[in-house]
Amino acid sequence: MGSLARDSMDCLIQGPSGQGQRAVRSRPEVKAPHDVLVCVSAVALNPTDFKSPASNPSPGAIMGCDFMGYVVSAGEDADKLFPSSTRVCGFVHGSNPGNPDKGSFAQYLVTDSRLLVRVPDSWTDLDGAALGGVGWGTIALAMEVSLRLSGRPSKPAAPQEDGSRVPVLVYGGATATGTMACQILSMSGYKPIATASSISSSLVQDYGAAAVVPYSSASCGETIRDHHTGGNLRSALDCISSPESVECCFTALGRIGAHYASLDFIPDDWKTRKAIKVYMPLTYALHGHEILFKGPYHRDADPAMLELGRRWRDEVQGLVDAGRLRPHPVREVQGKWQGIIDGLEMMKAGEIRGQKLVVAL
Ligand SMILES: NC(=O)c1ccc[n+]([C@@H]2O[C@H](COP(=O)([O-])OP(=O)(O)OC[C@H]3O[C@@H](n4cnc5c(N)ncnc54)[C@H](OP(=O)(O)O)[C@@H]3O)[C@@H](O)[C@H]2O)c1
Repeated sequence: MGSLARDSMDCLIQGPSGQGQRAVRSRPEVKAPHDVLVCVSAVALNPTDFKSPASNPSPGAIMGCDFMGYVVSAGEDADKLFPSSTRVCGFVHGSNPGNPDKGSFAQYLVTDSRLLVRVPDSWTDLDGAALGGVGWGTIALAMEVSLRLSGRPSKPAAPQEDGSRVPVLVYGGATATGTMACQILSMSGYKPIATASSISSSLVQDYGAAAVVPYSSASCGETIRDHHTGGNLRSALDCISSPESVECCFTALGRIGAHYASLDFIPDDWKTRKAIKVYMPLTYALHGHEILFKGPYHRDADPAMLELGRRWRDEVQGLVDAGRLRPHPVREVQGKWQGIIDGLEMMKAGEIRGQKLVVAL
């Protein structure tokens, strides 16, 4: 299916039962001063691309979040930093009930340039898509809002009195979010202690984990508490959000001042320790708009979130420019739109471990 006219484009929309469906839509236009029109060259897949349509159906909405592409045109406040042809990566809120035209699984998209990262020439388009924006955006929100960690790559946290680094647990270190967390936490002065399977353990260490504990061990939480953090763990990022992961994190966290971030909603009866402060970051919120999801995934519009995202975009741009940040290991799926549909099925079936699925458009 090729585009029918110059002002139309091919894209993947949510079908009636949530599955991807090819469609032709109007090409979006720059309307706000900070917006840019991007010609999308590659996309990366995230679990939310199949989870959101199931939990908050929005048939007809363009799907997809992470993208890499080239600036086609820019609003008046964006054109100096993002002239035509600039290679950029970022994320949008796809499958969006509040803005069904917003997804990245499309030939073109319009997005706020203040959350875009310029991609170096030495990176391929697939690398840029794998970096996208969901990963670093999630870590930004988790560190700043959920875990209240003040260290940043540009200003790392001071060591503790004994000279050691403050430990942070990353449960699910081999997830795409987990390897981003290990890198950013380590560069921010913290000591990431991760969990992973034995197959993924070396990958997680390669991305900056100081120690990796097998999550399959029945004493995972005790091992982290007693052998790796001396009972003083205050921060846990849970990239899995299962009964087992919550139990491990809650066991590992120390008695005083503990904060826990789950990346998916966890019910109250899993929270066995009332003293632990729980907050689920929602990365879509970084655009500052209201998130029209139901229940715990709803967020009010909040311009402070966009400010937070802008600050962290600057951090990430600095790391990328200095060659200090890597995307998760890339695995290309062939087949453009059908490749996206196939890739989402592979993810849903739990077949993808330690890899970021990317598709060239
Ligand atoms: N709230 C938000 O805004 C937000 C943002 C981003 C992601 N998320 C959520 O965060 C989660 C992770 O997303 P992702 O894209 O980073 O993941 P991913 O890359 O798709 O994760 C794959 C990895 O998950 C691990 N895994 C799978 N099942 C596991 C289990 N039962 N126990 C422990 N580890 C298991 C495996 O690690 P091993 O290889 O070690 O087995 C595998 O390598 C998803 O649920 C996603 O929806 C939420």
